[in-house]
Amino acid sequence: MVAKLEKSRLGAVSSNLYCGSFWLKPFSKKNKQDDINDIMTTYITTPIYYVNAMPHIGHAYTTIIADTYARFRRLCGDDVRFQTGTDEHGEKIAQAAEKEGVEPREYADRISALFCQTWPDLDIAPDYFIRTTDADHVKVVQDILQKVYDRGDIYFSEYSGHYCKGCERFLTEKELKEGKCPDHLTVPEEISEQNYFFRMSKYQDWLIEHVESNPEYITPERYRNEVLSFLREPLEDLCISRPCSRLTWGIPLPFDENFVTYVWFDALINYLTGIGYPDGSCFDYWAGAEHVIAKDILKPHAIYWPTMIRAIGLPPYRRLHVHGYWNVDETKMSKSLGNVIRPHDLVEEYGVDTVRYFLLREMSFGRDSSFSTEALEARRDSDLANDVGNLFSRALTMLAKYADSTVPALDKDTVTEEDRVLADALEKMVADYSVAMNSFEFHKALQSIWEVIGMLNRFIVTNAPWELAKDSDQAGRLNTVLYFLADSLRLLALVLRPVMPSAAEKMAAALGLKKELAAAKLDDEGCWGKMQAGTVLHQGEALFPRLGKKKKEQPNKQEKGQGKKAEEQAVAPEVDMEGLITFEQFGEVELRVAEIVTAEKIKKANKLLKLTVKAPEERTLVAGIAKHYSPEELVGKKVIIVANLKPAKLMGITSQGMVLAAKEIDADGNERLVLSTVAGDIAPGSRVA
Ligand code: MSP
Repeated sequence: MVAKLEKSRLGAVSSNLYCGSFWLKPFSKKNKQDDINDIMTTYITTPIYYVNAMPHIGHAYTTIIADTYARFRRLCGDDVRFQTGTDEHGEKIAQAAEKEGVEPREYADRISALFCQTWPDLDIAPDYFIRTTDADHVKVVQDILQKVYDRGDIYFSEYSGHYCKGCERFLTEKELKEGKCPDHLTVPEEISEQNYFFRMSKYQDWLIEHVESNPEYITPERYRNEVLSFLREPLEDLCISRPCSRLTWGIPLPFDENFVTYVWFDALINYLTGIGYPDGSCFDYWAGAEHVIAKDILKPHAIYWPTMIRAIGLPPYRRLHVHGYWNVDETKMSKSLGNVIRPHDLVEEYGVDTVRYFLLREMSFGRDSSFSTEALEARRDSDLANDVGNLFSRALTMLAKYADSTVPALDKDTVTEEDRVLADALEKMVADYSVAMNSFEFHKALQSIWEVIGMLNRFIVTNAPWELAKDSDQAGRLNTVLYFLADSLRLLALVLRPVMPSAAEKMAAALGLKKELAAAKLDDEGCWGKMQAGTVLHQGEALFPRLGKKKKEQPNKQEKGQGKKAEEQAVAPEVDMEGLITFEQFGEVELRVAEIVTAEKIKKANKLLKLTVKAPEERTLVAGIAKHYSPEELVGKKVIIVANLKPAKLMGITSQGMVLAAKEIDADGNERLVLSTVAGDIAPGSRVA
């Protein structure tokens, strides 16, 4: 049995992973010397945000993504640099400053500081915060302009076109929707003026070839296709100047003082300035450049920027990751609708770990998503407080009670087949997590972690350490079960670190591994069985205190507005409490969506059907519904099951849970059962809370 365990430890995770254009480091089981010589660099950036708006969840999402990826790559052993910052030149900023009656610089200083101060609240830790008004950036932009000009890739000409102030660029006929900018819903200004142009068209063929031969250059695929489809039309040259008669808040062109640089030409170069272009000691990071953006700025990043880089004479960035938009309650977020969500308010109300987890879990990277406090609260109560929070507190309580808060040694003779399956699942989780994190599929990475969390909660129920503790003959088995739990918690604390650094630190402290996990690398520690027997544990504080409680203790703004009544209700409920269960008690019941895969009659049991369901793992259930449903009509139905019920044997078949159904009894006493299902399509295994 143990030999099998050892084999699975190596088998599941030992191969190198090829991610299209480059090899990923995790799980390349090389010797230490190789690792030292082969440390990969990663340079991850966010867009630099305009200072005409305060930080909102859209900005927070992109920056959390970049921070999570930076932490993940560090966990893989990479040398990582993470950069964000603010974009401070251009017409929009000049106008916003004018509206407030201050100089653009003063205005930019204020809002840029707001962005800079927001990130630590979200556990976001950039290595460098760049501002386009920094003197070194201004110099680099001018040097690059001169270089490209000297190479003949910038020329002077006349242009007329549709200029959208919101986008700060000319839009083509094709981009307009009913004569308006599709993003800002405004009619662009018709502008005709003399300007400087960058010969972007010259690089069109090269760009097509590069995008086509590097499938990971722009992802997800839908955005790569969008770019390729745009490139099917002839590319126009890019207007890269604005006459000083129209705009002075910009970087002067080094070769003509009557013009300032177009804000995008200035802004994109931040990615080079921040690492010391052209020969600073950090410029080696360029080889590992990966940009994260939302779909709104795809064109500047997927077309202008690669051609600019080519004209400067640098190799292309490694990857561009494009995500969708956050709406709020299905509506576009906008100041005028008053529905802008501020990250600071969310962190105050829900805590940083919940906010990070929710944003990463809720949005499928690349697609739009809708934010709602209901969805956030549901995830916090179900996924965090209930699934992972309860798992930690139950496991640590049992380790305290039955092992004196010290990790016991595993008793090899008592390892079971179920343990082997769990160990394999843990290692598979680490491998799946790693692949998903590398492809920016954060929701999938979290899904694979939560599948294992579900398994572990069931592992506790089926092994019932409290029963084992009653029988001295089972002391060895009890130690094995407790060891498995401790080691699983260690792996969870490891993989959750990039996503929820604060919660993961609390987990590590509770496991007595604060220093060890802070320095751990996935390659070394991301496999089963690394927990040292004898490690001393600490119960610690609750990882995710429940929202319900917090709300009662601290009424939120709306409740406060209702005055004394809400407060009184919270402290002195008038309701008869007898027969009611607490939120925690309800949380003990694990309800899940299950898809029925097969259904069959059971011989000599005219009320029972044997079902195989996916929830998401396959399990067998025995349900007393044979008089109300035929086996054929059940296949494919999505029902709700109690997933953490102790297995029970019915007619010789072990039922691993219970299917929920509503019972109706008519006036004649006839019974009718209707299965509980879900109102929309949802993945099997989803929690019902
Ligand atoms: N200054 C330019 C970027 C220059 S990068 C060289 C800019 N700034 S911005 O302030 O408008 O930021 C746009 C970015 O903010 C988006 O690409 C995205 O990262 C983030 N988001 C802004 N609103 C968003 C949502 N509603 N949803 C998700 N992300 C959003 O464009």
